[in-house]
Amino acid sequence: MNTSNVDAGFAPVAVADNALYVSALRNEFPILNQRVHGNVPLVYLDNAATTQRPIPVINATTDYLLHSHSNVHRGGHALAMEATRLFELTRSRIQAFLNAPLPEEIIYTRGTTESVNLVASAWGDDNVKSGDEVIVSEMDHHAVIVPMQMLCQRKGATLRVLPVLDNGTLDLDALPDLINNRTKLIAVNHVSNALGTINDVKSICALARPRGITTLIDGAQAVAHLKVDVQDIDCDFYVFSAHKLYGPTGVGALYGRAEIMSSMSPYQGGGSMIASVSFEGTTYNDLPYRFEAGTQNIEGAVGLGAALEWFGGLDHSAVAKHEQSLLRRATEGLSAIKGLRIIGNAPNKIGIISFVVDGIHASDIGVLCDEQGVALRVGHHCTMPLMKRFGVGSTARASAGVYTTHSEIDALVTSVGKAVRMLS
Ligand code: ALA
Repeated sequence: MNTSNVDAGFAPVAVADNALYVSALRNEFPILNQRVHGNVPLVYLDNAATTQRPIPVINATTDYLLHSHSNVHRGGHALAMEATRLFELTRSRIQAFLNAPLPEEIIYTRGTTESVNLVASAWGDDNVKSGDEVIVSEMDHHAVIVPMQMLCQRKGATLRVLPVLDNGTLDLDALPDLINNRTKLIAVNHVSNALGTINDVKSICALARPRGITTLIDGAQAVAHLKVDVQDIDCDFYVFSAHKLYGPTGVGALYGRAEIMSSMSPYQGGGSMIASVSFEGTTYNDLPYRFEAGTQNIEGAVGLGAALEWFGGLDHSAVAKHEQSLLRRATEGLSAIKGLRIIGNAPNKIGIISFVVDGIHASDIGVLCDEQGVALRVGHHCTMPLMKRFGVGSTARASAGVYTTHSEIDALVTSVGKAVRMLS
């Protein structure tokens, strides 16, 4: 990925052998090296919910709190200047990571959800009116569906839905028919959190751009698995959270094209987002500060900066190869379990597998796997319309991180097999 940010945070191992690479990498994550429920080794396969943090990220946050903490953009003293430098350094790292043209196109938020809400409120309230249409997809997360639904309700607009095919891919052939001259926005995820499907967001944006339709890409599940280039995708907005990228919770970013955001109304009012305030009226600050009212999650930003630096130092071709081999192994192993059905068999997937077993509730599988140390997520994964599409209420989901090993996938298959035998 963006290797320009590499420094001493993590030394990439020369990789002839991915197992060696992963084992070196795991040393950076002491949390993985523990036993749960008394004495079973932890097998952490809930990375789509949140990733663990490596030591350099933890240390960067601690160092900041021990030596540099202050508020940013408000003080001229030494700590204030250092905190501001670190805060803006991360902004530049996010810009490089997403290949955004300008640092001011990066807005700090609490994460993906707040980023989408910012667009739905600030852009949506200015640009969507009664009778307009907004398109989301059937595989979107509630974090996209609900803010867009709320926007449509506020404005008297219509929410249209791009369907999902049986194999868990978007029905892109249906998109041209959904678009018309009332379509104002297409919001869609880059990668499905529930199915692992990688969506062809570049084609969606290519369809939208000549028609003047604004595009928002939810990158929450993509950033830790794919090279993201917002100029290549040619989207208007791209959003992600730090905690799915080996960084802290409670911080994330919104990329938005400067030409769109510079004319957008503010999202929240408060300190920092103003140029001048009087009782007669307020004028607003320039980008990016216009959208950063109040004190931000500064230590979160420092942690995100460290996560980007650490992640940028990985050998991404080895990581991607390893992830695909984990996915193949898990798909083969789980498919061999009687009654088990994988939901989502798209040709292009990240290391996420959702599955159901005939006659067994996913939460029972989750409990029995957990007793064997295997951490899965069970439920609707904040994608209730997608669950409905596949005729299920919930699935069990295993999701890999950069540190996941083949033996952990074997433990997954063994624990699910055992759970199914016990529950059948
Ligand atoms: N969106 C996160 C998940 O898929 C929480 O688990």
